[in-house]
Amino acid sequence: MTFPGKFNDSLMADQLHNVSLSFLVDDLQIRQGGVAANICFGMGVLGGNPILVAAVGHDFDDYRLWLEDHGVDCTQVHTSTKAHTARFMCTTDQEQNQIASFYPGAMSESGELDIAVVQSRLGGLDMVLIGADDPEAMIKHTNTCKELGIAFIADPSQQLPRLNSDQTRAIVDGAAFLFNNEYEAQLIEQRTGWSHEEILDRVHVRVTTRGKDGAHLTSRDGLDIVVPVAQEKSIKDPTGVGDAFRAGFLMGLEWDQSVERSAQVGALLATYVIETVGTQEFTLSKTGFLDRLARAYGQQSADDIRDHLICHHP
Ligand SMILES: Nc1ncnc2c1ncn2[C@@H]1O[C@H](COP(=O)(O)OP(=O)(O)OP(=O)(O)O)[C@@H](O)[C@H]1O
Ligand SMILES: [Mg+2]
Repeated sequence: MTFPGKFNDSLMADQLHNVSLSFLVDDLQIRQGGVAANICFGMGVLGGNPILVAAVGHDFDDYRLWLEDHGVDCTQVHTSTKAHTARFMCTTDQEQNQIASFYPGAMSESGELDIAVVQSRLGGLDMVLIGADDPEAMIKHTNTCKELGIAFIADPSQQLPRLNSDQTRAIVDGAAFLFNNEYEAQLIEQRTGWSHEEILDRVHVRVTTRGKDGAHLTSRDGLDIVVPVAQEKSIKDPTGVGDAFRAGFLMGLEWDQSVERSAQVGALLATYVIETVGTQEFTLSKTGFLDRLARAYGQQSADDIRDHLICHHP
């Protein structure tokens, strides 16, 4: 929501013990989001068959249809009987000050989901990304993947501040991939007490995204490459770039590409998100995507994924 004034004009210093404020806002926009749904959406649009594993509320029906229309399997979501789907509500004033609330709602029930059950129902899982969620659920899903030998990706992002040292170690240790931005990278090192090298001993590949400075791929085996960003046409709204990068990266892996090529696909998908307001509002065309990939990373890059890419829009 947008408040066409300044919050500051309504906040009285001597009345802060007794706040009762209502702002008359002049704009309301409702957008889809959530890290799991954003990542699944991007994968679905690129032609993948991602499975969304998350807890939602009864208000999920419209969102479910939208995601299914874009190739996302929503059969494994847990629907709460008590709470609504998680949502973030934010009011911004003229000076870009924000008053926001995050309602986790049904997300608090994600511990009721069981990756072992999902795996047996669907007959095998290629890889599980464990993103920001209820902390107990994140640990539970990580442990299940370890027990069942399912390759998993550690992507704790916004939940890092809520994870203690043991929990952060459990989530990182043994991951096929660790995703973090630069800030999260430092936080992970601080929380785990492990240096970058010690982390590399415990994960297959660490992917550190650095905003406009690209993505840094490192591994114990000496992988050390920076994949630069793909040139964006304009910057409209950076929300969701990290999720889009992951979606493209995972599709690259799905198509048996190298991690470098996969990161290029991720970086290009991230630019589509930057160029649109919202996280799931971009549209792709196969020729447009391949053309931009070739311009950013060379013709070979486009040729390598040409036969795999399906731009899936209803
Ligand atoms: N300004 C930009 N121009 C082009 N590409 C960008 C830009 N910012 C980010 N990207 C692409 O998106 C990737 C992820 O960005 P970033 O490191 O900002 O993730 P993040 O901090 O996790 O973002 P989020 O706000 O979505 O959580 C980058 O590695 C890059 O490929
Ligand atoms: Mg992020």
